[in-house]
Amino acid sequence: MEPLPGEIRTSRTLLRVFDPDDVDTVSAAVAANVEHLRPWMPWVVAEPLSAIDRVALICDWHQQWQRGGDAQYGVFRDGALVGACGLHHRSAPTTLEIGYWIAGQHVGQGLATEVSAALTAAAFTRPTIDTVEIHHDKANVASSRVPDKLGFSWVGETPDGVTALAEVGLDWCWRMERSDWPHGDGGC
Ligand SMILES: CC(C)(COP(=O)(O)OP(=O)(O)OC[C@H]1O[C@@H](n2cnc3c(N)ncnc32)[C@H](O)[C@@H]1OP(=O)(O)O)[C@@H](O)C(=O)NCCC(=O)NCCS
Repeated sequence: MEPLPGEIRTSRTLLRVFDPDDVDTVSAAVAANVEHLRPWMPWVVAEPLSAIDRVALICDWHQQWQRGGDAQYGVFRDGALVGACGLHHRSAPTTLEIGYWIAGQHVGQGLATEVSAALTAAAFTRPTIDTVEIHHDKANVASSRVPDKLGFSWVGETPDGVTALAEVGLDWCWRMERSDWPHGDGGC
C-alpha cells in the first residue's frame, strides 16, 4: 500500500513523519511536557525512554509508515516541535483514527483542531478510507472540543478501562464520514 503523506502543511504548522534524526528533539519535547501529558497519555509511564529505545521506536514508526501503515507526525511550528499526531489503523480497514498531543506552552491556540483538520483531509486522499475517527476518554473535555469543532459526529461511549491518571475509563468515539467532510483535501 502507498504510504500516507510524509509531510502535510497546515496554515501554521508542518506535520512531518518522525525520522530517527528527531530522537533528541522528541526526547526534549516529551521531557518538557511529561506532567502535561501524564493525565491522558498511557505511554508516559515508560518515560524517560533511553535514546536507544527511542531510536528503535521511531525506526519502527518509520518502517510502518513506509509499508503503508500508521503515520506518526511531529507538529513543527517555525521549525520547533510543538506536538505530535498520527493516523492509525485501529479498527475497520476503511477507517483511520487520529491521535494528537500539543505541548503545554502551545495549547489553547486551535493547533490540535488545525492539525486534525489536515489529518482528516489527508486520510481521505486514500481512496479506501471512508471514515475518520477521534477517540478520547470522556473526562478529557479539551480533547472532545477538537472533533466537535470540526463537525465530527459523536458516536457514543464504550467502557475501555482506565489507562492514564485522569481517565474515567469511558472511551468517547467521534466519526467523520467522507461524504460529510466539507473541506475537500485542502492542506495536503
Ligand atoms: C487535548 C489537546 C490536544 C488540545 O490541544 P489544543 O491545541 O489546545 O486544542 P484546540 O486549541 O484546538 O482546542 C482545545 C479546546 O479545548 C478547550 N479546553 C482546553 N482546556 C479545557 C478544559 N480543561 N476544559 C474544557 N475545555 C477546555 C479550549 O477552550 C478549546 O475549545 P474552544 O476552541 O471551544 O475554546 C491538548 O490539551 C493536549 O495535548 N492535552 C494533553 C494530551 C491529550 O489529552 N491528548 C489527547 C488524547 S485523546
